[in-house]
Amino acid sequence: MEKVKWTKELATGVEIMDKQHKMFLELCDNLDQSVNKGKAKNDILSDMKSLEDYAKVHFAAEKEIMEKSKYPETDGHIKLHAVFMDEVNIIRKKAVAGESGPKFASEIKEKVTDWFVMHIDRTDRKLGKFINNK
Ligand SMILES: [Fe+2]
Ligand SMILES: [Fe+2]
Repeated sequence: MEKVKWTKELATGVEIMDKQHKMFLELCDNLDQSVNKGKAKNDILSDMKSLEDYAKVHFAAEKEIMEKSKYPETDGHIKLHAVFMDEVNIIRKKAVAGESGPKFASEIKEKVTDWFVMHIDRTDRKLGKFINNK
């Protein structure tokens, strides 16, 4: 499975956001690789927990940035983060039920990693532009 990496095309221009996006993509990749290799359930659940914990930290940081700057699209942006967390919940339940292997890894890649990259590109970069044009 190909590694998903942060590239400068994904830069938002907001340092803390870019730093956290890089880290988050590393965590997505760790989980994807563990599942793809069919690692033990406890290893997968531990990768899953790191990803979820970091998602919470990151979304809280973006929420604070949006509220502080009175970003007009704050509510819609926060809703998208909630949709993502729901998706992550579904994935975790499957991992708890013992799902593993390449097919599950592709599902994670699509619903977690690719979703996140798309969100940075379409939604976070828009926020970055707003912050940098203030
Ligand atoms: Fe973000
Ligand atoms: Fe976001």
